[in-house]
Amino acid sequence: MKFKTVFVCQQCGFESLKWAGKCPDCGAWNTLQEEVKAQENKKAPSRTRSFTDFSSEVVKLSESKASKEDRIPTHLAEFDRLLGGGLVKGQLTLLAGAPGIGKSTLMLQVAAELAKDKKVLYISGEESVGQISGRAQRLGIKGENIFLHCETDIQKIVESVENVNPDVLILDSIQTVYHPEFNSSAGTVAQVRECTSELVRLCKPKGMITFVLGHVTKDGELAGPKILEHMVDCVLYFDTEKDNVLRLLRPHKNRFGSTGEIGLFKMTSHGLVGLENASEYFAQTSRERAIKGRAYCLALEGSRPLLTEIQALVSPTRYPFPRRVATGVDLNRCLMLFAALEKHIGLALDNKDIFVSLAGGVKLKDPALDLAVCAAVISSCKDIAIPHDSVFMAEVGILGQVAKVPLLDRRLDEAQRLGFTRAFTAPVSKEEKTKIKQMNLAELLDLNDLSLRLK
Ligand code: TYD
Ligand code: MG
Repeated sequence: MKFKTVFVCQQCGFESLKWAGKCPDCGAWNTLQEEVKAQENKKAPSRTRSFTDFSSEVVKLSESKASKEDRIPTHLAEFDRLLGGGLVKGQLTLLAGAPGIGKSTLMLQVAAELAKDKKVLYISGEESVGQISGRAQRLGIKGENIFLHCETDIQKIVESVENVNPDVLILDSIQTVYHPEFNSSAGTVAQVRECTSELVRLCKPKGMITFVLGHVTKDGELAGPKILEHMVDCVLYFDTEKDNVLRLLRPHKNRFGSTGEIGLFKMTSHGLVGLENASEYFAQTSRERAIKGRAYCLALEGSRPLLTEIQALVSPTRYPFPRRVATGVDLNRCLMLFAALEKHIGLALDNKDIFVSLAGGVKLKDPALDLAVCAAVISSCKDIAIPHDSVFMAEVGILGQVAKVPLLDRRLDEAQRLGFTRAFTAPVSKEEKTKIKQMNLAELLDLNDLSLRLK
């Protein structure tokens, strides 16, 4: 077999005979890496054959049958919800995250649940059998039905899958496995692409549920080529926020469900625990009494309303340019809201420093937070305490008008459940009002209304 040297972009997979500082295809800098490639034998079947075989006759969509997707629950409520009710047979999921975030821990916990009635094969290229079993002991996992294999050669992994014939395969991680026919080192584009297509060919016909773990680069992008994300059914990113205890699992792509849901977990000494009552985690200050500069909002993360607390501090500045600091909410959005408050209700903010923070250490982009930000700023600026039983949910525009936000009824239901009695919103239609019974609604047209009601 002949070999040739090529330079491959580690981001997009572009191949070039010469090195260049910038990839001519995707424009990324410093991503071209030298790889040794076997020259293809013309008679041998092409390596770039499709990694799945879905070829069919031409049929009418109206006459075609939808494949039935029975959901296989993992019994980890947060994980199931974000997957859209559970796993599907033959599903290939990529779980990506920074080192130490808890990917291996989560997978071991998922494996333990699935192993109650399924055979699980856990392949690790990162840890020894001793290390994995040590972690399993700490998590209290017996692992009767879990088979461990520490291996990085994809051909041996395939053999091992053929021998064990598991229902669930976990591979930790894709960047450590290599295909011996390729000379480039593990983790390079060619290796990641080949090993993943080998896995797809393996798991789809068997209907085997497969999890592949992946590393992320320092920018939070998945290390390796984008093609990896195209090949799998589901991409999940594991992320943490500033306090380092909370873990967020976000679907980036999901062929069997929505990508709007997130899973919330806490890392404890016994592994990951789902945060079922998330609202209580995010609202931090005591709800017993009114506080100046604090406004509650039920913000949506996916389709789940979370009780969030906006805190604002408005204080005289000692600098020529007043400071504007926003944590957890978008600063530009806040700057627009401050300008609207100055213009439409004449709030004197020009010589004040303003700090706005979303308690709980998450970042949210829900427009419903606008009204809560305005209420908290007015409250801090004018020294008016906001009653502890009020929530604020509406979008505020540059003209100072207040607009409705989606899924108001769901937010109000959750607010009611949490004991709130008064909600500040945009005007609500009659039909919607019939659904809201116990809540006292304050319908606002614009910021003037808000300012008048906060006296
Ligand atoms: P790990 O799953 O090894 O992360 P990854 O596979 O993403 O690199 O998790 C490592 C971290 O999790 C480690 O710093 C210790 C912490 N941890 C706990 O806090 N509690 C536990 O029960 C376990 C198993 C890990
Ligand atoms: Mg790990």
